Amino acid sequence: MTLSDKPAPIGIFDSGYGGLTILRDIQQRMPDRDFIYLGDNARAPYGSRSFDVVYTFTLQCVQRLFEMGCHLVILACNTASAKALRNIQQNDLPRLDPERRVLGIIRPTVEQVGLTSQTRHIGLVGTTGTVQSKSYPLEFKKLYPDITVTDKACPMWVPLVENNEHNGDGADFFVKKYIDELIKKDEQIDTLILGCTHYPLLIDKIKKYLPERVRIVSQGELIAESLENYLSRHENIDAKCTRNGVTKYYTTESVEKFNEAASIFLNKKVEAQHLEVI
Ligand code: DGL
Repeated sequence: MTLSDKPAPIGIFDSGYGGLTILRDIQQRMPDRDFIYLGDNARAPYGSRSFDVVYTFTLQCVQRLFEMGCHLVILACNTASAKALRNIQQNDLPRLDPERRVLGIIRPTVEQVGLTSQTRHIGLVGTTGTVQSKSYPLEFKKLYPDITVTDKACPMWVPLVENNEHNGDGADFFVKKYIDELIKKDEQIDTLILGCTHYPLLIDKIKKYLPERVRIVSQGELIAESLENYLSRHENIDAKCTRNGVTKYYTTESVEKFNEAASIFLNKKVEAQHLEVI
């Protein structure tokens, strides 16, 4: 594989639609940047898949984004960040191209949240994969050892969003169930991390069942801020990212399905193209 050295858009990867909530906030903060969004919808959801499978699928998509020219790829998916990022950074990048970068969304989230929690008790909701990986508690332990993390896997929330049922009455049952179970485990929680990029679409229902004292962290805004900061500190990477304000959308599934669902996430029409990653 020969990779081009020409400047190119920033790659934003997710297993499906969830990363669009991160892209939306990044676009808002950096409107002049170019992005290539890749959703691996044909193989989503990743949340309940094994470590090895998530790693293999994520690596294939990252390589595809490199082939499309991207010098910087953001894994806008908590599950991929939890299960694939470290391996890709340590084992694959040196082999593929040590000059390219792949960043995840867990560390920047932890860095920010640790600065603001008063009680030092944090709640985390995520997919089964993200929760089982213990990536969030491990990252908190490294950066803020005084913080206690209480987590709760919410396997029914992604299907509710993917099936456009997140505003329906049926969603209330599973939102209340998981939030009640989390708060029962630790009543001192003052901050809740929505550790899955689909969950911002459930935010109204989550607010309804969460005690008022608990602040909800919007991961998209944190990641957008942290990316801007990263680019200002890494001029060599920044210079390789183009700026025409254009975003291209790619999906490994049907384009029609993607366009319809993406409009729910982004609140605007998009015209995606189909892409094979293997
Ligand atoms: N986007 C994924 C995440 O943030 C959730 C969707 C999936 O299970 O693939 O964890």
